[in-house]
Amino acid sequence: MKEVYLDNAATTRYKPKSVIEEMTEFMKNINCSPGRGGYQCAMEAGREIMKARFILTEFFNAGEPENVIFTKNVTESLNYLIKGILTKNDHVITTSLEHNAVLRPLNQLEENNIIEVSYVEADKKGILNHELIEKEIKENTKLILINHASNVTGTILPIQEIGKIAEKHGLFYAIDTAQTAGILDIDFTELNLDFLGFTGHKSLLGPQGIGGMILSDEMAEKMESLITGGSGSLSESVKQPDFLPDKFESGTLNTPGVIGLKAGIEYINSVGIKAIHNHEIKLLENFLNGISDINKINVLGSLDIENKVPTVPLTVQGYDLGDLGFKLAEEYGIMVRSGLHCAPLAHKTIGTFPQGTLRFSIGWHTTEEDIEYALDTLTKI
Ligand SMILES: Cc1ncc(COP(=O)(O)O)c(C=O)c1O
Repeated sequence: MKEVYLDNAATTRYKPKSVIEEMTEFMKNINCSPGRGGYQCAMEAGREIMKARFILTEFFNAGEPENVIFTKNVTESLNYLIKGILTKNDHVITTSLEHNAVLRPLNQLEENNIIEVSYVEADKKGILNHELIEKEIKENTKLILINHASNVTGTILPIQEIGKIAEKHGLFYAIDTAQTAGILDIDFTELNLDFLGFTGHKSLLGPQGIGGMILSDEMAEKMESLITGGSGSLSESVKQPDFLPDKFESGTLNTPGVIGLKAGIEYINSVGIKAIHNHEIKLLENFLNGISDINKINVLGSLDIENKVPTVPLTVQGYDLGDLGFKLAEEYGIMVRSGLHCAPLAHKTIGTFPQGTLRFSIGWHTTEEDIEYALDTLTKI
């Protein structure tokens, strides 16, 4: 059966050859613990990690490579942020478009009466008005934490405008780039960010199990380490080092993952992020044009392709979406995701809670034929 993968918002299934080759090469020929020994292969592993930090710093136009911290995914990075910077009676501003990676750690602290949270509502199309963010600022506001693009509607949030608000009021500013890194240019310095959380396995085209965060110096200084332990440095002391990246990187890193992520970003650089974006947006346009001709399908969220990543949520009149997702996979080989996509408030915002939507998400490896096949299949059904 033909296979068409349209769940790139969850993870990109197909990786560049170089990602697989470089990871394999590392595991075959190097595979020592970085920063943990004075012998050749350990030093080589350390150099590869350092190269990856440089590449990430350049990719996101951030400050120093040491400020790039590796974690296992953006969920872990967001937990580091939320639990490491917020203390008793702090107030946070976030949005109704966040993923549970943000909502659950915030809720955990909120339920324990540690912090207060304001959830700024996007409109029914998933568009967020940045002025509403400023209205929520209070005396005890410490952090603005927002999604760069929604994994439900695909809408891009006004991160430039919100950055100016954060700067004006002297607040920490953090973004979750899970749905945008590798598709859109993101400039850490220009946006005046204190935290940029990224995950390796989506549009950065790396493997699963690697992600990270880039921190401003002030954030790095004020943020507590959630996880402490061996860092290969200052081993004479039982105190966690206070310098970067060691303050936040305890335990042996996922070095093959870091190498794969590095190769993913090098691949993106070689193709050009603009070319990737144009390809995906062209296919998004084809999909949206085609779908508008099919009866009984209701596309949700904004259709403004200029302000959207290639993710399309829809409902189909007369169909249970779980059943339809299953049918598409089993009978036609089309892989999409039905349900709430770990973002319950986003579905409340667009009016699709609790049934959710069927989400089609396009990636770099999606082809025009894939889109035609998906449209033909939906028409047939
Ligand atoms: C907007 C957003 N944030 C966070 C995450 C969590 O990503 P990960 O599972 O890689 O930590 C996702 C994953 O779908 C996402 O779409």
